[in-house]
Amino acid sequence: MTDIIVVGGGGREHAIIRSLKKSPEIGMIYALPGNGGIAQDAICVPHVGAKDIDAIVAFARTHNIGFAVVAPDDPLVLGAADALIDAGIPVFGPKKNAAIIEGSKVFSKNLMKKYGIPTASYETFDNAEAALAYVKQCPIPTVVKADGLALGKGVIIAMTRDEAIDAVRSIMEDKQFGESGSRIVVEEFLTGPEVSVLSFTDGKTVVPMMSSMDHKRIGDNDTGLNTGGMGTIAPNPYYTDEIAAQCMETIFLPTIRAMEAEGRPFSGCLYFGLMLTPDGPKVIEYNCRFGDPETQVVLPLLDSDLFTIMKACADGTLTADMVRWKSGSACCVILASNGYPVKYKSGFPITVDEDFAAELYVAGAKRGDNGELLTAGGRVLGVTSAADTLADAVAEAYKNAEKVHFEGAYKRSDIGQRALKA
Ligand code: AMP
Ligand code: GLY
Repeated sequence: MTDIIVVGGGGREHAIIRSLKKSPEIGMIYALPGNGGIAQDAICVPHVGAKDIDAIVAFARTHNIGFAVVAPDDPLVLGAADALIDAGIPVFGPKKNAAIIEGSKVFSKNLMKKYGIPTASYETFDNAEAALAYVKQCPIPTVVKADGLALGKGVIIAMTRDEAIDAVRSIMEDKQFGESGSRIVVEEFLTGPEVSVLSFTDGKTVVPMMSSMDHKRIGDNDTGLNTGGMGTIAPNPYYTDEIAAQCMETIFLPTIRAMEAEGRPFSGCLYFGLMLTPDGPKVIEYNCRFGDPETQVVLPLLDSDLFTIMKACADGTLTADMVRWKSGSACCVILASNGYPVKYKSGFPITVDEDFAAELYVAGAKRGDNGELLTAGGRVLGVTSAADTLADAVAEAYKNAEKVHFEGAYKRSDIGQRALKA
C-alpha cells in the first residue's frame, strides 16, 4: 500500500481523489490543503497551501509519502514536482521546465511556430507602445493574452479596435494581471467549436483521454464574463474519430516530441484546448494539468486504475492499453455563489437532499464549527451524472443539482445544450 498526497483543493482534486480511492494499492490520501468537501474522502491538511512547496515537501517526508499528485498550475509552474522528485518522491505532474507550456503563452506560441503545430497566427510584445501601434492596424476581432498565469482570466477577445487598445492598456500599463502582463500575445481570432482534450503522457507516449466540452461564460448561451468553467460534458460530439486521428498526427505527438527535443520532457496531464476551425483543429491553449471542471466528467468515465496510469506517467512506462473508457456520457453542472465571477458572499450552509443520486465534487466549501458544510468560494461545487446517452446525463445532472441547496446558488441552465445540437 502506498500513502499519497494530492496537492490542491478544488473540484478537480476532489474528482481525482475519488478516482484514486478506488485503487487497491493506495493507503492514506492526504489533500494539501483539500477543502470541506474533500474531507469526506481524504485527510485534509489545511495549513499546507498548494503553493507552499517547502511545506509540501516537508509534509511528504515526515508522512512517509510514496507518491505525489500535483494538480494545480501554480505549484507546477513554481517547481513543486522538481522539489518532490529531489526529495525522492515520484510525482504525477510536469517539472518546472515543462510546466512553462502553460506558464508562458509566449513560450507555447513560439514552440508551436518552431515545430509547425497549428495555432492562431500571432505577434508577441514586451512594450506597450509597440503593442498599441500593432493593434491600431491589425485585423479585428483580435485576441489579447497576458503571457503568464492569470487564473484563466488573462484573455481578452476584442471585437472592436477600441477594445483591443483598452485590452493592451489594461494588461501592459495598468497591470490588471500583475507581472503576468509584462509580455503579451496578440493573436488571430479563430472560430469553431471548442474541444478540451486532456492526455496522459510520460514524456514520450501520449494517450488522449475522452474529449470534453467546457462552458466558460457565466451566462446561458455563452454570454457574460469568463469564469473558471460553469459546466462540462464528455465526450464532445464535435470531436469525431477522424478529427481525433488528425489531432494525434498534427498536434499531440508533435507537441510531446517538441518538448522532448527542447530538453523539457513533459510528464503528467497535458491539456490541449482546441478549436475546430474551418482550416482544421488548432491549439487555443495548453495547460500543464487536468482541467477544472473537465476532470469532473472525464474521470468518472475512466474504466481503468488511475493510480496505475499515474505511476506509469511518472516512471516512463505508459502504454495506450492502460487507459480504457466506459461507454456513455457524463455531464457536470457547477453551482456557484450568486455574483461570481465578480463579487459574492460566502459562509452559507450547504444541504443535500437524501435522494441525491449523483457525484458531488466540492470546490469552494469549508467546515463550520459544528462540522456543517459552508460555502467558501465562487464556484462552490459540481454535480456529475453519467448515463448511456448525453441527453440522459444532462437531465440527471440537472435533476440532482436541484437537490443541493445554499443561499444564492447560481447555475447555468444550458450545460450540454450545444453538444446535444451537434
Ligand atoms: P484561454 O484562457 O487561452 O483558454 O482562453 C479563454 C477562451 O478565450 C477560450 O476558451 C476561447 O473561447 C477564447 N479564445 C482564446 N483564444 C482565442 C482565439 N485565438 N480566437 C477565438 N477565441 C479565443
Ligand atoms: N476548464 C478550463 C481549465 O481548466 O483551464
